Amino acid sequence: MCGIIGYVGYRRASPVLLDGLRRLEYRGYDSAGLAVLEDQDLTLYRRVGRVAELAGAVPEKQEGHVGVGHTRWATHGGVTKENAHPHLDGTGRIAVVHNGIIENASELRGRLERDGVVFHSETDTEVLPHLIRAFYKGDPVAAVRQALLRVNGTYGIAVVFVDHPDMIVAARNGSPMVIGLGDDETLIASDTQALVRYTRRVIYLGDGEIARIDADGVQTVLLSGASTAKEVEQIDHEWGVSEKGDFDHFMQKEIHEQPESIRRCTRGRVVLEQGNAKLGGLDLSPRDLLGISAVEMLACGTSYHAALVGCMAVERLARVPAVAHIASEYRHRNPLLQRDAIFFAVSQSGETADTLGAVREVQLKGGEVLGIVNVVGSSIARACGRGTYVHSGPELAVASTKAFTSQVTALLTFSLLLARTRQISRNVGKDMAEDLLGVPEMVSRYLANQGPIVEAAHAIKDARYALFMGRGFSWPVAMEGALKLKEVAYVPCEAYPAGEMKHGPIAMLEQDTPVVVVMPNDHVREKTLSNVQEVKARGARVIMIHSEGDTEAAEQSDLSIAVPRVHDLISPLVTVIPLQLLAYHVGVLRGCDIDKPRNLAKSVTVE
Ligand code: AGP
Repeated sequence: MCGIIGYVGYRRASPVLLDGLRRLEYRGYDSAGLAVLEDQDLTLYRRVGRVAELAGAVPEKQEGHVGVGHTRWATHGGVTKENAHPHLDGTGRIAVVHNGIIENASELRGRLERDGVVFHSETDTEVLPHLIRAFYKGDPVAAVRQALLRVNGTYGIAVVFVDHPDMIVAARNGSPMVIGLGDDETLIASDTQALVRYTRRVIYLGDGEIARIDADGVQTVLLSGASTAKEVEQIDHEWGVSEKGDFDHFMQKEIHEQPESIRRCTRGRVVLEQGNAKLGGLDLSPRDLLGISAVEMLACGTSYHAALVGCMAVERLARVPAVAHIASEYRHRNPLLQRDAIFFAVSQSGETADTLGAVREVQLKGGEVLGIVNVVGSSIARACGRGTYVHSGPELAVASTKAFTSQVTALLTFSLLLARTRQISRNVGKDMAEDLLGVPEMVSRYLANQGPIVEAAHAIKDARYALFMGRGFSWPVAMEGALKLKEVAYVPCEAYPAGEMKHGPIAMLEQDTPVVVVMPNDHVREKTLSNVQEVKARGARVIMIHSEGDTEAAEQSDLSIAVPRVHDLISPLVTVIPLQLLAYHVGVLRGCDIDKPRNLAKSVTVE
């Protein structure tokens, strides 16, 4: 969940490291630090708090051209300067930054302490520099390799040695590391966002690989010592440097990017003339598709909500049984796999440890998992081998918005593909394709006329509790709306299927409790409307997301927010937008740190 950056080249290292840390800060933001090699010495800067605090501590005149930096999301040990990375060995000549968890840290620490090593932090990471020192005989790669052979757990690390002032050693096992190749400079980072300003030519480090990086490039070996050949890849345009531009926050910007990100997700994939879809990355022939007995999806958080929508679409359109699993639960229940079921791992970051663990469990049991992933080259994409990138581009706000709509779009596209091998005709497929291709225009139309969102935000901002409800496709949308509100505004709330509300949560309602109802014009609208009457009778204040032209819905609401009228399969792509905006505005009114909510991090690489 932490961010790592390393630089070796002709520029002064510290501005590059600080710029990289600012771009990685969404991965963890409780403390930050960097180590720079200069004049046969290692200078260390560490601060609790944001990268801005650290930047203030690094002198302008810092001249070193090699260094590593880190932004932390605490796992082992509290948020203190001592626990911030980099960590040093006892001589102060080796510095390590680390992302991941060393599972046998306490055992290693005990052993090192018995050998006289003094520890200065509570972190699991600190065993690494001491262990590397113990094996160091002049060859830095050999020392890192020997140390890592003793380590269990996950890591992405970057190490600098005073004795080798022109290089960095990096290694990976389960935590992302990507190397950027420039002209007379090389960078290493946990995320391409920190590199794209300098280069678009990258190498993805694989699990169990160690890299020796200098200004001329990189050499890689396996933990076994065997050297490996790496492919240089080019980062796509959509993964360019992301700036806020005219927006106040990345979340706001990313909400407004959705017409374009949804369009990118369907481009070249939804084929109107054939009423069909092409998803080449899945590598599934019509015969393979016909043989699928069930669809199962693995995901967490927002991606799980997208998976729920995807499953409903698969069942409705293709009439194939589909189920979404919360990945953090899935593998611990020793799951039973159905023969000929196909699995999807749905993940924005592609690094979520719980989802990756579920993927491995399915693979171990002989199942086939395909990735529905945003981040190119990420661990889940690589573990699956096949799948579909959703092409949202960088999503830097911790609260996911545009990735959700892209995931839903990709899963609807798959539903169309699957359905065409079974029960829907070219004409029905054409209607669906037309509806899907029309979504960006519908989202733009709504964004241009958002309705009384700010008023609704005022109605929620001081609430002790808020309830979200919806039926059918709108139930996962309601869940997503409640998750957004918790994440960015810390308002206690929950989401229920509208019909389930009377089985418990209705007891929570008091005079003026805000109830957000998602009720597009679909086959369950009438039933939801009855539930609206029930909450109104208990004094609730109803904020209704409904289809344009639904005057009855508008009349039954205290605040009515109309979205374009679309096919109910597609409705989540438009009904979720006002919920994202609502959470955003409540967060702003409550003075919350919108893009970096407390306690959260963008990619959750611990279980
Ligand atoms: C979404 O707003 C959250 N930050 C979180 O629930 C997220 O969706 C979840 O951690 C899964 O992440 P992933 O999509 O990167 O796998």
